[in-house]
Amino acid sequence: MNINVVIVGHVDHGKSTLIGRLLYDSDSIKEGRVEEIQKLAEEYKKRFEFAYFLDSFDDELKEERTIDTTGVMFKGEKNLYSITDVPGHKEFIKNMLTGASHADVAVLVVAADEGIQEQTGRHTFLIHMLGIKQLFVVVNKMDAVGYREEVFQDTRDKVAQLLASFGYQDVPFIPGSAMEGDNIYKSSVRMEWYKGPTLIEVLDEVEISKEPKPLRFVVQDTYKVDSESVVVGRIESGTLRKGDSVVFQPSGVRGKIRNIRVFQSELQQAERGDSIGIVVDREVKRGDVCGLVEAPPIPTEEFLGEAVLLGKSLRAGDRLELRCATRRVSCQIKEIREKINSETGEVMGRHPAEINENEAATILFATAPLVVEKFSEIPELGRFVLVKDKNIGAGVVLETTN
Ligand code: GTP
Ligand code: MG
Repeated sequence: MNINVVIVGHVDHGKSTLIGRLLYDSDSIKEGRVEEIQKLAEEYKKRFEFAYFLDSFDDELKEERTIDTTGVMFKGEKNLYSITDVPGHKEFIKNMLTGASHADVAVLVVAADEGIQEQTGRHTFLIHMLGIKQLFVVVNKMDAVGYREEVFQDTRDKVAQLLASFGYQDVPFIPGSAMEGDNIYKSSVRMEWYKGPTLIEVLDEVEISKEPKPLRFVVQDTYKVDSESVVVGRIESGTLRKGDSVVFQPSGVRGKIRNIRVFQSELQQAERGDSIGIVVDREVKRGDVCGLVEAPPIPTEEFLGEAVLLGKSLRAGDRLELRCATRRVSCQIKEIREKINSETGEVMGRHPAEINENEAATILFATAPLVVEKFSEIPELGRFVLVKDKNIGAGVVLETTN
């Protein structure tokens, strides 16, 4: 089984080292390539220095560039893993929305010598917001605290309490050292008091049901070739086949797929991630989302989202622009339901008059008709950016009202 893992945790708690350790001990890298990998990881990290994020997000929305969030791969006994590293600095929220959006499970790294820090909570908040249900905790740097059981227990108790406030119960905790290799891929002889599994053993127990998802093709552009109208876009979920009967929303146009093209060649079918041109027997517009007639996208004019504000403030009644996939619509803040502390997940108040920078909230949005999907189901159509003069926030769709 192929499993996507995101590694989260506070700055310097050892996330990248942990990934290096997994790769190294699983013989996924040859000796001598370690430094190279580290360098790659650094570069990778730089790309995600997301002071620039909103711009990149914007680019992604415009489809000028696709942010590649795939990290490195390695094999366990049973599963094949793709790992995403997340830099632990403050700009995390912005990159998590892309970096972790396909993660099946998360590993939270907490350094034994520092315990819970600011981003321990914030990352947990995001994992929770992204709907990641399976979580494991590595209490790292046990070597730095003399491999003492009391330190592990104390850290575990505190972190477990934090996790419980986000609804995570019975989370496995593993005492380890990414640097020395204890209990990550190989079990440790230095912590006799610990009888539990290693990180790779718990990961290998993970099973994920990957249900087939409905077709969602996002229209970027249309143009005429000879007398034909070609619709260009990307499949964000599902499969499209030649001959399929489809519907485009919110415009409501129905049509039949006459042809699927990539450059000059023709395809019988295309899958998630494919950028294609299709020839339909009808006119369609940029911003539309296409699905099969049997499982069509449903346009909505109201949805519940959870957003984090990255600048300015937001009040009930405010009007602004909302961007989702290739669509931009005007929207209104119909109701701010709950203000949430993005460090602890704690609800700081119901129906607040406004929210400010770095605060999160669940918000009911009223919009011009558009297609959105629950983030937990189809992430590409479930995340959005809020714009007021400039980008001021980002969020995910929790519930659609259709
Ligand atoms: P950011 O990406 O900046 O958030 O940091 P990170 O979480 O990826 O931490 P990284 O792996 O870069 O490690 C930070 C520092 O902690 C480095 O100096 C590592 O050598 C050290 N470190 C990582 N794991 C361990 C460990 O198990 N024991 C000890 N003693 N040090 C560790
Ligand atoms: Mg790192």
